[in-house]
Amino acid sequence: MSAKLPEPDAVARAHSQKVVAHVRDLLDKNGGWLSLRDYMQAVLYAPGLGYYMAGAQKFGDGGDFVTAPELSPLYAQIWATPINEAMQRSAPTMLELGGGSGVFAAQLLRQLQAMKGLPERYAILELSPTLRARQRQTLSDECPDLLSCVEWWDHLPDVFAGVVFMNEVLDAIPPRVIERAGEVWREHGVTFDGERFVAASQPLSDPALLALAASRFPEQGDYVAELNVAGEALLETLGRSLTAGSTLFINDYGFERGDTLPAHYARGTLRAYYQHRVLDDPLLWPGLLDITYHVDFVAMAEAAQRGGLTLASFQTQGEFLQRHGILDALARCVGNCNAGNNNAENDNAAAEAAYLSAAKAVRTLIDPDAMGGIFKVAEFRLPPNTKRKYQPKQWRIFADTDNERPFDSNIVGLTKNDEVSDFSGRAILIKEGDYLYLYMDCGNGDCIFSEGLVIKNPYPTKPYKWCCKLSGEIEYMSEYEGRFSDEEKRVVCGRKESKNMTN
Ligand SMILES: C[S@@+](CC[C@H](N)C(=O)[O-])C[C@H]1O[C@@H](n2cnc3c(N)ncnc32)[C@H](O)[C@@H]1O
Repeated sequence: MSAKLPEPDAVARAHSQKVVAHVRDLLDKNGGWLSLRDYMQAVLYAPGLGYYMAGAQKFGDGGDFVTAPELSPLYAQIWATPINEAMQRSAPTMLELGGGSGVFAAQLLRQLQAMKGLPERYAILELSPTLRARQRQTLSDECPDLLSCVEWWDHLPDVFAGVVFMNEVLDAIPPRVIERAGEVWREHGVTFDGERFVAASQPLSDPALLALAASRFPEQGDYVAELNVAGEALLETLGRSLTAGSTLFINDYGFERGDTLPAHYARGTLRAYYQHRVLDDPLLWPGLLDITYHVDFVAMAEAAQRGGLTLASFQTQGEFLQRHGILDALARCVGNCNAGNNNAENDNAAAEAAYLSAAKAVRTLIDPDAMGGIFKVAEFRLPPNTKRKYQPKQWRIFADTDNERPFDSNIVGLTKNDEVSDFSGRAILIKEGDYLYLYMDCGNGDCIFSEGLVIKNPYPTKPYKWCCKLSGEIEYMSEYEGRFSDEEKRVVCGRKESKNMTN
């Protein structure tokens, strides 16, 4: 297969040599062997070197692969409705993981604006500095008027209210690749044969990983599987950070454990992409190829559930996009393509070509034998009124809970300016959309606990700048503490401060 591949140019080869040197250094430090997880981590994410961290084009026609938002603007347009509805159930805040070229954010924001559903904050959590710069550029080009609501985060928030979305992120997180042959368990990895990196496995020695693999492998037969341990930890952590009513959407390609996979996946699903070709050899040209694999959606659902989330829906991408009207949106394209067309033959031909191109992209997105069937959409929610975060009094913000409750049972007054006080009198800056944990002393040794989102003061006659829209009911100390085991209180009391209060 490699004979037919377009050869990288001299600049790309020189870059790859730097990546090779970096990986060889890691191999030397690790006794001559790296797990595939560590190899993939290095060639995709080593700062300044990895495929996602350096300047390669990656997405689109001039790159190595095409993702759904790159394929058609209708993809982001269709997502706007479920995302808008989910924000209305929780908060007008959106977090996109792995923003790619920024095209999804730009197109989604435009569509949300047209629907009068713009988020107050659109955060992108992106590991790659070059992709961050590219996302900023795309947004500046496509929707400069909306750039002010976009911000980039380095890490997951401790607490998040709103909607989280990720497309093709889990498949980009390096997995452990485990094999069972007969009774013998091994982990796939990489070594250097003097000329290039080659596949080499080692006996699986980590007992926790062995137990995990054993619990997921079919009872009998030789088998290879990717275990996305880091992706599962990501979902579990995300689940724990979401507030009641919030939603997590995952779109990715993969399978449900137990599905019969095509025979060519018998040695695992890990593959490399280079200039729109699929390569069975992920070790070729380190740093110049994307490496990816199928997501185990059962493992992901279990992880999200460990984080407290409930699976609200699971369907193929084709079903999801059709259910939300992509064919109607395509039909409207015909109108748009023909608009302004005064029947000149050339205009007709151009309109027809534009429509055919849009239709071809939509077909790929929904075709059960193409992306429509391989990709899945999973929606997880934290049910409304779920109470879960233990926050001790000393990390909480003072709120005059009694003062405004007669006006509106869900809104309390906070402050006339941008400062609130915590338990020790320390001033903390707040802004719209922050999620706060509140307390009010009852004066008799008891306390009222509540939590919610900072909103603008809705009362014309009240002097506040900011109020708090409570999520769920207020609780007295005995009710509140009764929800947690001593162990839970001990664990969360180890934390110092909720970062969200000042970010
Ligand atoms: C295949 S690209 C998909 C990009 C984009 N979502 C799209 O659909 O075009 C994978 C993206 O995930 C990002 N990524 C990988 N691991 C991540 C992580 N742990 N957290 C956030 N982003 C991550 C990469 O930097 C990259 O932007």
